[in-house]
Amino acid sequence: MLVAGNWKMFKGPAATAEFLDAFDPPAGVDVLLCPPSVSLAAAVGRGMPIYAQNVHWAAEGAFTGEVSPSMLLEVGVEGSIVGHSERRQYFGETDDSVRARCEGALEAGLGVIACVGETEAEREAGETESVLRRQVAAIPRHERLVLAYEPVWAIGTGKTATPELARQAHELIKELHDTRVLYGGSVKPENAAELLSQPAIDGALVGGASLVVESFAAICRAALT
Ligand code: PGA
Repeated sequence: MLVAGNWKMFKGPAATAEFLDAFDPPAGVDVLLCPPSVSLAAAVGRGMPIYAQNVHWAAEGAFTGEVSPSMLLEVGVEGSIVGHSERRQYFGETDDSVRARCEGALEAGLGVIACVGETEAEREAGETESVLRRQVAAIPRHERLVLAYEPVWAIGTGKTATPELARQAHELIKELHDTRVLYGGSVKPENAAELLSQPAIDGALVGGASLVVESFAAICRAALT
């Protein structure tokens, strides 16, 4: 089981250090954290792998606002989320740029958590399967890459996919891409054990509930059962 905390645009370096002073991941579950870029250095070396939330494909260049794989490696970061739905929705991320970011990160030696998931409109239009097929097809196969299924309608909304809906999506994704698949979208201490007990769910990508030590620790413990 892998439980990854996606802090999004929360916690600068001071709040990051404070969280890590109080957080002790349980043994027996892989736990990693994805703080914002300015907090990565404060998080590295504190007992768990640290991933960025985004990474560029080039080693360097005129790409204002971006960070390269080698720069992440230099500060001790081990991997990155790629293609999170908030990047796709608000920052013009496409399947092509997701592929390029994954390839650049993997070539440099980073791990990748690549995100896929349908929007509410796509689900209602019966397009979930075709969207997932298209998004997964853009993602390279690699031993250092895991996928995260995050139905966009469940992210930050308090609406979690039922274990049954999540299972169906995970089974499809695993047919298309033989790797670990994390579930993300309103994972909380109350629903984590049931979601994580589904055979096709290999862990969780946790947003809001990863910001509080107690709730993130409870989700990590749920992954053990
Ligand atoms: P959430 O976010 O747990 O706050 O819904 C999940 C994510 O966006 O990775």
